[in-house]
Amino acid sequence: MTKKENEKYLVTSALPYANGDLHIGQIAGAYLPADVFVRFLRLLDKEVIYICGTDEHGAPISIKAEAENRKPRQIVDKYHKIIEKGFKGLGIDFDNFSGTATKTNTELSQKFFLNLYKKGYIRKKNSKQFYCEACGRFLSDRYVEGICPNCGAAGARGDQCDTCGTLVETLELEEPVCKICGSTPIVKKTTHWYLDLPKFENKLKNWLENKNYWKENVLNFIMGWIKQGLKERDITRDLDWGVPVPLEEAKEKVLYVWFDAPIGYISSTKEWAKKIGQPEKWKEYWQNPHTKIIHFLGKDNIPFHTIIWPSMLMEQDKTYNLPYDVPANEYLNIKGEKISTSRNLAIWVSDYLEYFEGEFLRYVLSANAPETKDSNFTWQDFQNKVNNDLANVYGNLANRVFSFAKSNFKGLIKQPKNFNRKSEDVLKQVFEIVGKIRDSYQDYRVRKATKFCIDIARLGNKYFDETEPWKTIKNDSALTEKTLYICLEILRIISIVFYPIMPQKNRELRSMMSLKKEPKWANIFSENLEIFHISNVKPLINKISDERIEQQQELLEKMYKGDEEKMEHKEEIPFEQFSKLEIRIAKVIEAEKIEKSNKLIKIKADIGGEVRQVVAGLAKYYKPEELVGKKVTLLVNLEPIKLMGEESQGMILAGENEEDISLLIPDKDIEQGAEIH
Ligand code: MF3
Ligand code: ZN
Repeated sequence: MTKKENEKYLVTSALPYANGDLHIGQIAGAYLPADVFVRFLRLLDKEVIYICGTDEHGAPISIKAEAENRKPRQIVDKYHKIIEKGFKGLGIDFDNFSGTATKTNTELSQKFFLNLYKKGYIRKKNSKQFYCEACGRFLSDRYVEGICPNCGAAGARGDQCDTCGTLVETLELEEPVCKICGSTPIVKKTTHWYLDLPKFENKLKNWLENKNYWKENVLNFIMGWIKQGLKERDITRDLDWGVPVPLEEAKEKVLYVWFDAPIGYISSTKEWAKKIGQPEKWKEYWQNPHTKIIHFLGKDNIPFHTIIWPSMLMEQDKTYNLPYDVPANEYLNIKGEKISTSRNLAIWVSDYLEYFEGEFLRYVLSANAPETKDSNFTWQDFQNKVNNDLANVYGNLANRVFSFAKSNFKGLIKQPKNFNRKSEDVLKQVFEIVGKIRDSYQDYRVRKATKFCIDIARLGNKYFDETEPWKTIKNDSALTEKTLYICLEILRIISIVFYPIMPQKNRELRSMMSLKKEPKWANIFSENLEIFHISNVKPLINKISDERIEQQQELLEKMYKGDEEKMEHKEEIPFEQFSKLEIRIAKVIEAEKIEKSNKLIKIKADIGGEVRQVVAGLAKYYKPEELVGKKVTLLVNLEPIKLMGEESQGMILAGENEEDISLLIPDKDIEQGAEIH
């Protein structure tokens, strides 16, 4: 097959802030849908690169750096690694994963600024901004919250109200509060440089005119604020971390993070081009008009990608491609509640990956994608989907067909000379669904695609049941082989159409069928195998037991509670409350790692005549054998809880930061049981 010369795709996912781990809501909104789409394009043999990186500037990073008492650079490096590892664990596979605090991006952002400045699209203005005296900083965008002046909803941010979708003028927020410390900010004068968005209004309208193929939720959003009329936006900030504004008179200021962040897409592409040894190749993606640029993101990023970013691109010294499509998603809720990173109401990717396979999350988030409206995640649903759809339908089809082929045909199934009505029928139905799957992927309807993939497996199971090979094998081996060939065809087709959603499992499936080629859509119809060879069969999907789900749930609930505890501790507590804690010296007598967990060690400790079992998250920092014999401090009057099925009757005290944990140990030898006061 020859590729059409010019057709190329550049797919991006919104650059995650390098100020924390990823949570599953971000995966569902911006990363998984893009990864699935890219894999789909590759199945179609399209030329595509998938570009991302971390968003490394702005208040989110500065604030985290303060909270952790580090330099912004250290925060960025730390979370860049954590985030990248999370993506790997979920099989989200970028061609390049860079960051915005690179030299390339700094220079390119300054160039972008100067080009706009020289053409008269940026101007200086004295302005007023909210300033939090308690925090000692100007509060922009996301750091001030209040009542939306447009719709009256509470919880509107300084830049945008998620309830009605309008871009908010920060100073118009009613009852503003500082999101960091909760105090009421004052209004203070400052000087900033503004991007003259009203000047772009007509150009944007023209550009948007033929975007009727965009998702409805995105178009609705845009219409909302086009109607309102565009306003100038400040694109500089009073912060000491960011890209310096390239003007003599603005030395102290940095660019607004949303200015240099999307430019990171270009810098990351440049970095990719260099890495593959063709440093000019980035231009084929950003400047050749036959390339389609597709930005995947969550709905809070829509205005930036459909108004500000295109405006920035329109008036440069070179012609850049504008976004071809911006398939934004709605939000994923957890147990019906909005994910909140500040309240730690989130499921973090690295936590998830300690307990379950990445592919299961890919499946569940695909089946439940927040494409047109918010969707909901619960562990119950997670377990149901894995056990019912994946194990009982998809995995089961593979298992029963493979084991039957192995035990009756030594794993070798030949292509029959002709098919009977029933098998032609079932293949016809399968091909119909294949067509629908293709359309669904094409329209970013991964949710539908997921359902259709399982539907094919369901058809396969039904066919197997109805043809009853376990009966026909007794007197018609040829007919039985026909049946199996059809079942294997169905599995082969699934291994291609389902591949974007679960690449790993479908690779395993293909390998058990000795399918050596890379999966390609065209092969669905043309592979025409003379023989299937089944080998190295392993169960594809292991079910998740009730017990494991309960343990996971417990762990999560504990995380939420833990966070509330932390918040409470910020307040002063009366002495009587402290004196209620019973803390004792305890001697560790046994310690053993809990196999199913990377973190947990089960410890038995003598607290002076009584032995307590404690489950502690120490495994990354201490070997069990190092602990035995140590005298530690133990909080003994905590309500017992179960972790990974083991009861924990206390809490070992330790000092902790992001990198290490150090046990609190008595300075002199003292008998176990001694109380701590
Ligand atoms: N860091 C932003 C967020 O998490 C997204 C940045 S997307 C980019 O909301 F376009 F700026 F790269
Ligand atoms: Zn404050």
